[in-house]
Amino acid sequence: MRINEFLLERIQSLNENLVDINLSDSGVHPYELRDLLSAREIEEMCATELGYGWTNGSEPLRDAIAALYPGRDRNQVIATNGSAEANFVMVMALLQPGDELIVVVPNYLQILGWAQAAGVVTRLVPLRQENQWIPDLAEIERAITPRTRMITLCNPNNPTGALLETQAMESLVQLARKHGLYLHADEIYKGSQLQGTEGPSFADLYEKALVTNGLSKAMAMPGLRMGWLVGPKDEIARVWHCKDYTSITTGSLSEFIACRVLEPARRAKVLTRSKHILRDNLAIITAWIERHSPLLSFIPPRAGGMAFIRYRMPINSTELVRRLVQEKSIFPVPGDAFGLDHYLRIGIGSPASHLNEGLRRLDEFFAENGFGS
Ligand SMILES: Cc1ncc(COP(=O)(O)O)c(C=O)c1O
Repeated sequence: MRINEFLLERIQSLNENLVDINLSDSGVHPYELRDLLSAREIEEMCATELGYGWTNGSEPLRDAIAALYPGRDRNQVIATNGSAEANFVMVMALLQPGDELIVVVPNYLQILGWAQAAGVVTRLVPLRQENQWIPDLAEIERAITPRTRMITLCNPNNPTGALLETQAMESLVQLARKHGLYLHADEIYKGSQLQGTEGPSFADLYEKALVTNGLSKAMAMPGLRMGWLVGPKDEIARVWHCKDYTSITTGSLSEFIACRVLEPARRAKVLTRSKHILRDNLAIITAWIERHSPLLSFIPPRAGGMAFIRYRMPINSTELVRRLVQEKSIFPVPGDAFGLDHYLRIGIGSPASHLNEGLRRLDEFFAENGFGS
């Protein structure tokens, strides 16, 4: 089996740890364990047996995850090593060569890569800045054929930060139901909405929804590698069948921590921290973009840890980022990684001082290269 290079992950792997200022993170600045658990809990954790545990996630963990989705139970949940594994096993378990998959882009693009490698026929439906990055349902419907099995999208969206209103979610569900399709949503940024309250999951709206989530982004704990997939019981059983071939179980220490941080009060506290960081940084980056208008423009993100910024400069995004890494030791993600040149994705989940320094170096670069505004 051949698989295309995962441009986004590869370019991050190559640069994120080498620059002074990494602007490529899409999640919220990670927690330290001491800020998450009490001394008593850390002591308890030390007594955790480092065994395999349950290959689909322990019962308490799956109960804690299921509790996030009204009406779901532990048999409709599988715990995975990161959300990335949830996406992978979902594709392997539920799609066959020759099936068609509608992929709403831009998105994280991991599912696209695995589906294409597995011989699934992929049909891309683009989001557009002029539509506020909200999907056009008529366009999705036109892409449906008798072989279509699933629609997949990312909501809140990576890289745009767009967030669907409940009504738009319901319309999408109606469309999927009308054609008997699975609807897969990667909801890893759920809970990081910058205004208002947390909306529903697709898993709350549709019996054939498959939903990926985890603790890496809005929950600011990517190092735990804790993800999950929620969906109909039979489909989750098929995913489990595949997961036996991948990582066997999630880590026992990660499960211990996940069970505690998913307690409603603690989850709310974690998400409140995330939203504070994101709101403060959104104000910083909005003022910065306004200062550089019309050179730079964006649709302000409604959720998630990033801003997706269009630039009007005669330089390709990969080349621009290559020079920023080399000349200024800063690393935003080039729009090319999402198939959209002339954009940069800049993380807004880091400490404000870090973001400010990154923007200061960008200012310098613009000035030195005559990209004035
Ligand atoms: C939309 C989306 N899904 C999944 C992942 C992978 O998440 P994890 O670190 O939990 O495997 C990412 C990482 O950037 C992402 O942006």
